[in-house]
Amino acid sequence: MMFIQMKVPLLDLRRQNLPMEAELLDAFRRVLTSGQFIQGPEVEQFESEAAAVAGARFGIGMSSGTDAILVALMALGIGPGDEVICPSFTFFATAGCIARVGARPVFADSCPECFNLAPSGIEPLITPRTKAIIPVHLFGQAADMDPVLEIARRHGLAVIEDAAQAFGAVYRGRPVGSLGDFGTISFFPTKNLGALGDAGLLVTDDEALAEKARLLRNHGASRRYFHSLVGGNFRLDALQAALLRVKLPRLAEYTARRQQHAAEYNRALAGRDGVVLPTTHPDRTHIANQYTLRVRGGGRDALRRFLQERAVASEIYYPVPLHAQESFRALGPHPALPVAEALADEVVSLPVFPEMTSEERGAVVAAITDFLESEPEGR
Ligand SMILES: Cc1ncc(COP(=O)(O)O)c(C=O)c1O
Repeated sequence: MMFIQMKVPLLDLRRQNLPMEAELLDAFRRVLTSGQFIQGPEVEQFESEAAAVAGARFGIGMSSGTDAILVALMALGIGPGDEVICPSFTFFATAGCIARVGARPVFADSCPECFNLAPSGIEPLITPRTKAIIPVHLFGQAADMDPVLEIARRHGLAVIEDAAQAFGAVYRGRPVGSLGDFGTISFFPTKNLGALGDAGLLVTDDEALAEKARLLRNHGASRRYFHSLVGGNFRLDALQAALLRVKLPRLAEYTARRQQHAAEYNRALAGRDGVVLPTTHPDRTHIANQYTLRVRGGGRDALRRFLQERAVASEIYYPVPLHAQESFRALGPHPALPVAEALADEVVSLPVFPEMTSEERGAVVAAITDFLESEPEGR
């Protein structure tokens, strides 16, 4: 078989960051000369600039997307004896934070097409102990928020949107993060807006919750050494805030490039037997933080091996649904969640980083096409 071997990484942060080296160094120098490394104007300015993208009144810089979820739960007063509903098919942090505040994660199944929390599965899980729902905007597309919000309103539950992977995505004209009581965002370096280290943001429209979250991220202290709440150190570094401010104006461009790659994958792979392409619902945008397809018929791992032989990187987000994780075994045996379990066996994510070239994308498509056209026994 004739093909030109081209190494395609899953992502390449140097390609994104090095062209703005001078601006990043300027931001570093600004913080260095200011001597203000904790809190201060860089953090405050980033908070308001980033909150505007999420369409929220208040933004609270956080040390990570994980800590943003943790602080949201703490601010809502969720703790031992409480239950919080979240999808099983998501990154660990969503449920890990629920367990860390002493509450019980209650796992719901997902939509087989968009991979997000299936609203129809929520209501049967509600008990008198349920306090909140955490929908996750997985892979860059909003969960179906209106039914989630309606169920939450009817049962008096809080909603925390885990928007770690979807900063800038829109649901029915409204930016994600601004729909629930809190939105939590991650600026982990591989995210659509990536810091040069760990960083996160909590957003809300509720002034009292914003104030409480601000206290909690700083050991619950309203002024130094006077602690009205038991919080922690969940602060965003001034340095990360300054670096993120260099990258934030490019967010729309990152998103557009990711979306272009996703559209080209969809076009090139449409109608191919054996793979199910990701669905974007017409009432929302998909920022393609990941481009994730399903491989039917047990061929996912064979496809990954084939891609690896062609030097095309891929990843599985996520191979084990959370209800099956060892860390949650203490919760007892869990009923089957057929969609989450099927997704864990069938999904594979392809390179979709903004700086990927069309040649690299073509190499990914060619490798997948060759795999699908090869004889199953030859794989
Ligand atoms: C869905 C989801 N939730 C939460 C997080 C946690 O974010 P962070 O890595 O910034 O702690 C991530 C990041 O990987 C994520 O993908």
